[in-house]
Amino acid sequence: MLKLLLTTAQGIEDLASREVLNLLGDSVVRIEEKPFNVEGRILVEVKEKEYKDEKGRKRPFDFATYLNENSRLLHRVIVEIASTKFEGIEREDPEKALKRIEDFVSEIPVEKFVKVSESFAVRSFREGEHEVTSVDIARIVGKAIFERLSRFGTPRVNLDHPTVIFRAELIGEAFFLGIDTTGDHSLHRRPWRVYDHPAHLKSSIANALIELAQPEGSFIDPFCGSGTIPIELALRGYEGKIICLEKYHKHLNGAKMNALAAGVYDKIEFILGDATRLSEYLESVDFAVSNLPYGLKIGRRSMIPELYSKFLSELAKVLEKRGVFITTEKNAIERAIEENGFKIIHHRLIGHGGLRVHAYVIE
Ligand SMILES: C[S@@+](CC[C@H](N)C(=O)[O-])C[C@H]1O[C@@H](n2cnc3c(N)ncnc32)[C@H](O)[C@@H]1O
Repeated sequence: MLKLLLTTAQGIEDLASREVLNLLGDSVVRIEEKPFNVEGRILVEVKEKEYKDEKGRKRPFDFATYLNENSRLLHRVIVEIASTKFEGIEREDPEKALKRIEDFVSEIPVEKFVKVSESFAVRSFREGEHEVTSVDIARIVGKAIFERLSRFGTPRVNLDHPTVIFRAELIGEAFFLGIDTTGDHSLHRRPWRVYDHPAHLKSSIANALIELAQPEGSFIDPFCGSGTIPIELALRGYEGKIICLEKYHKHLNGAKMNALAAGVYDKIEFILGDATRLSEYLESVDFAVSNLPYGLKIGRRSMIPELYSKFLSELAKVLEKRGVFITTEKNAIERAIEENGFKIIHHRLIGHGGLRVHAYVIE
């Protein structure tokens, strides 16, 4: 049995685990969202299976590679080695906390997961109220692994270009150790992003919004920035019309460059325009999905209520089916939704760039 620890954005674990079930089918024996109550994590147990290669030889199916190549909602795929809960580790004296981590890791047979001849590094992640830093964790876990592997040969550490990356995570009281098969770049950093918009949306969250919308028919992102949502939709093989509307030339050009890099330029219609005059560009559209400009990012927060209210009154003239929007500006969006006769059919909080953003599905 193989255990994978999967990471994604906080608040979309249900959508990511649905994707994993769709991708891995009946190989999944058990799937757990938020193990130890840790948001943004999914633990999945799969039964190992084989496939026949082109020469008819039996090979073990590589679930981790398959998820790295096919998932749209995950950030990392980690082969879980061990996990535990360290009661009271938050605010604990740093020496004591590190000793507990070291003792735990020293007992784990890491030699079953790597060859001693392979170079390794430990990358760490920490979130919570600890007296230890993520650098301390990487150091102590690295030491414990090094000492354990020394029993079997001469281990090699390579911090820049390791063959094997161990990932140690301390989140609240939960501790996870595994092998990070994704590498140093999270999967949400898509290779097509050649134009980096200052407020771009993570592609994993763009896909979560698409999942919430379940679009079919014509589709618009009326504040499309660098095009993340339309591009990710086009990459899913979407058959309906996709429109990317943006007020600023620089960003719209960036969206075109990104779409070219993604190989979906001809699948998207790009319009330079103002979302508060939406009905001038189209008579009707089935779905609208967007991350709206937030006060924090555009600098002038006082403009937001008016912007949302004008946009939603225009949207009310053209939207046929459903809209999905995210923003930090809860009051402004809820007022604009209500004033324009829309109903909120779903709401959730999603973690994005250290903030909790509100996602709404409206009809
Ligand atoms: C939060 S960003 C969207 C980022 C985008 N999702 C991405 O991943 O790149 C909001 C975008 O709305 C654009 N914008 C602001 N006011 C607008 C308006 N009235 N009409 C259309 N676009 C507007 C901004 O220029 C910005 O690019």
